[in-house]
Amino acid sequence: MFRPFAKAPAPAYRPIGPERCVECALIHAASFAHPWNEADFERLLTGPEVVSDGAIEIRDETLSGFVVSRAAFDEAEILTIAVIAERRRCGVGATLLATHLSSLAARGVRRLFLEVDTENIAARALYAGRGFYQVAERKAYYRKGDLPPASALVMRLDLGGQV
Ligand SMILES: CC(C)(COP(=O)(O)OP(=O)(O)OC[C@H]1O[C@@H](n2cnc3c(N)ncnc32)[C@H](O)[C@@H]1OP(=O)(O)O)[C@@H](O)C(=O)NCCC(=O)NCCS
Repeated sequence: MFRPFAKAPAPAYRPIGPERCVECALIHAASFAHPWNEADFERLLTGPEVVSDGAIEIRDETLSGFVVSRAAFDEAEILTIAVIAERRRCGVGATLLATHLSSLAARGVRRLFLEVDTENIAARALYAGRGFYQVAERKAYYRKGDLPPASALVMRLDLGGQV
């Protein structure tokens, strides 16, 4: 099997802005059934209340993953997080999330929320490993074409100085 990142050094983790909207749209489209396009990301990443971090390959500066939140006062919501398929399962998502929690905490965020599909085992494990806990469930929240809709779990993390 061709593994393009087998010997690549770990990415760098740093804030990203609208200059990354094309790459974000490509990664999002490869990761979700209902993709957000380039214009969606350009608008999103320009918002003053938006906090976004990326995993950037050292060898060519390309984006391998990103996470975007919207913050208001001491609360924030993670809107999306995704890692390119070739870089998954090697710690990029976890490091990206840890970097992002630090960014949010530095901005004064104390309570963080997100929604995750009950069927998304990888994301649920990622969030549970970081200490997120379930606070609600939205039944039949995600449409799945001909399949039955899936519920969304609303998860929370309290940031008070733990990052
Ligand atoms: C969720 C996602 C961001 C995880 O990124 P990743 O780089 O693969 O995650 P990591 O390698 O850092 O894994 C961190 C932890 O997540 C969990 N995890 C990740 N992928 C998993 C999988 N396929 N199955 C089970 N657990 C998984 C594990 O607990 C893992 O810790 P471990 O390696 O010590 O077991 C990635 O799978 C992805 O982009 N998925 C598509 C988009 C998506 O679903 N986003 C979340 C929307 S709510």
